[in-house]
Amino acid sequence: MSDDAGPSAWIGTSWKMTKTLAQAREYARVLADVSWPSGVQPFVVPPATAIAAVAEILPPGGPVLVGAQDAHWEDEGAWTGEISVPQVWDAGARLLEIGHSERRAHFGETDERVNLKVRAALRHGVLPLVCVGEDAEQRAAGAAVEVVSSQVRAALAGVPETARVLLAYEPVWAIGSGGRPASPDDIVDVVAAIADLGGTARPVLYGGSVSLDNAAALMAVPRVNGLFVGRSAWQVEGFIALAAIVAECST
Ligand code: PGA
Repeated sequence: MSDDAGPSAWIGTSWKMTKTLAQAREYARVLADVSWPSGVQPFVVPPATAIAAVAEILPPGGPVLVGAQDAHWEDEGAWTGEISVPQVWDAGARLLEIGHSERRAHFGETDERVNLKVRAALRHGVLPLVCVGEDAEQRAAGAAVEVVSSQVRAALAGVPETARVLLAYEPVWAIGSGGRPASPDDIVDVVAAIADLGGTARPVLYGGSVSLDNAAALMAVPRVNGLFVGRSAWQVEGFIALAAIVAECST
């Protein structure tokens, strides 16, 4: 279960496009007072507007990692509306979510761009969290393992084997309010296929309609090293409860 280079399990949430600064600070203040179970690495991924405010309360080097939901692959320049990895680093982010299915579906995030962003993150010492997952049609066609493996291969092209990269397997059909929660049987083959792709063991987090009801069963899938959560962790109590389940399942 454990990855040699890091914690035995991960619990993270992306707030997506939710939370005012006041709400973000309130959530972060609660996390700052939690005694985290050993071996579990919690992380929160606020919207860009709140990274600095959250990182003031949960500073780099502390028990809770702060991340960014996206960043450009160039370090600076004429890219209106974009933010760079050095900028999110400056704001206090030490993890970068890359290639979430909502970005792939709505914002033209291709495998090539995902790869550029992974390399940009690694250049600046930011931990990439690469999101991959097949859609409902690909699953129905029996192509889940092939599609997701190919996304991972593309994301990691040219990346040194020793580079620390987290993978989040998030089947598109399982994400969000219209999603169907995946069962352990649904995900076991894909997780097994990507956990050692290219001969390097990498932590795999599962994401997509994770809740207090299914978290333990998903954590019990071989090679699942953590959970990446949306809606069920948008209230801080949900995040803390899920962290406790992850801790329990990883000992
Ligand atoms: P959800 O989102 O938990 O709300 O389904 C998961 C994700 O998009 O990472």
